[in-house]
Order: sequence, then structure tokens, then C-alpha cells
Amino acid sequence: MQQPVRIAPSILSADFARLGEEVGAITAAGADYVHVDVMDGHFVPNLTIGPMVVKALRPHTHLVMDVHLMISPADPFLDAFAEAGADILTVHPEAGPHIHRSIQRIKALGKKAGVSLNPGTPAKMLDYLIDDVDLVLVMSVNPGFGGQSFITGQLKKIEAIRKMIDKSGRTIDLEVDGGIDVTTARQAIDAGADVLVAGTATFRGGADAYAANIARLRG
Ligand code: DX5
Ligand code: ZN
Repeated sequence: MQQPVRIAPSILSADFARLGEEVGAITAAGADYVHVDVMDGHFVPNLTIGPMVVKALRPHTHLVMDVHLMISPADPFLDAFAEAGADILTVHPEAGPHIHRSIQRIKALGKKAGVSLNPGTPAKMLDYLIDDVDLVLVMSVNPGFGGQSFITGQLKKIEAIRKMIDKSGRTIDLEVDGGIDVTTARQAIDAGADVLVAGTATFRGGADAYAANIARLRG
């Protein structure tokens, strides 16, 4: 069943020199999750942050820390991100080598397990994973950078995954990441999404604008 819409600002678009304050500001502005984009310069063509930063941010928010691992392999870092205070750990099957093993490890660490699919990866990839995951993250841009345009063709994939989730009968977040603005937020929700990642659209206009930016996305 589609759950109420939750907004997950991606701190990739925050001011990195004031990351703690920025996380505090989106928390006060009504965000639901804090989306942390972890990149390794290998699985994706960009480098961002590691477990030490997640640990440093943890005291700045009581919100769900939603950690999106765009790193290959992810397994050697799962324990460190869990200890740092992540609540959800999302891994890409394309990052290899064994997605099911990664999910098992995340759950053994007592965290929620997410699987993320790149734009070129079919929904079918979830056939033998859906009963084990807490979140599915559909990439609506190719991973690596904020500020890209939403790939409309991914809406069909969101619809297909909505059906899979409903059939499973379990509570699974359906999250969409990349190019979310007021228009694409509406399209993603209509297709069945219930968590929207938004970097550019949350952080534009400075801290005074965050609450209105988040409210507008929620619709
Ligand atoms: C891309 C990241 C996204 C991205 C979203 O690899 O996973 O979270 O930063 O940024 P916007 O909302 O600016 O498209
Ligand atoms: Zn992300």
C-alpha cells in the first residue's frame, strides 16, 4: 500500500562547510528522512562522504538517516555506516558482487535494507529480493551528481514496482531519487512513489526557504 508521502532532502546540495547546521535546518523545516549520498569515484564518477561524516551528523537530527551507498563493493563498509548511526542502508545490485548477501548483512546489523536500481536496470531485478527489503530506491537520473533532469521513462518502472510491493503485502518504502521538483514529484507520487529524494529543490533559496520548499514537494 502506498504510504503518506515523505520528503528526503539529499544533503549533496547542502553547504558542506556547514553540514551540521544544514541538517538541523531541514529537520526544523519538516523533512522526514535525511538522505546521505555516498559516492566512491569508482561506481559513480564523483566522491562524497564516508561513515565519519554520518557519525558527525547524527547528533544534529532525530530523523531517519537514509544512507544511499553508491560504492562498489559496499559490503566492507556496511558495519561502519551502521555504527555511525545510519537507519536505512541502501545498496545497488549493480555494485556487486552478491546483493542478497549485502541485504542479509544490513538486516543482521539491525538496520533497514534498501535496494536501488539505476535507470538502465529492470524492475525484474527485484523478483527474488522484494520479500527481504524495506525500501526500493528508483534512480530517476544516472547516479553521481545532483541537479540532473528527471528521466520520465522511469515512471513506468515505478508503476511496476508499486504493483510488486502491493502484491508482497509488506510495508516497503518506494523512494525516487533524482530530478525531483514540484512537477516530477507529482508524477512520481501518481506512479506510486511514497518517498521523494530532493537535493536541489530542497536547498534552493537558503534556510529560510526550506520549509516552503519541502511543503511544496509534499503537495
Ligand atoms: C544522485 C543522488 C541524488 C541526487 C539528487 O546520485 O543519488 O540523491 O543528489 O539530487 P537532485 O534532487 O538535485 O536531483
Ligand atoms: Zn541518493
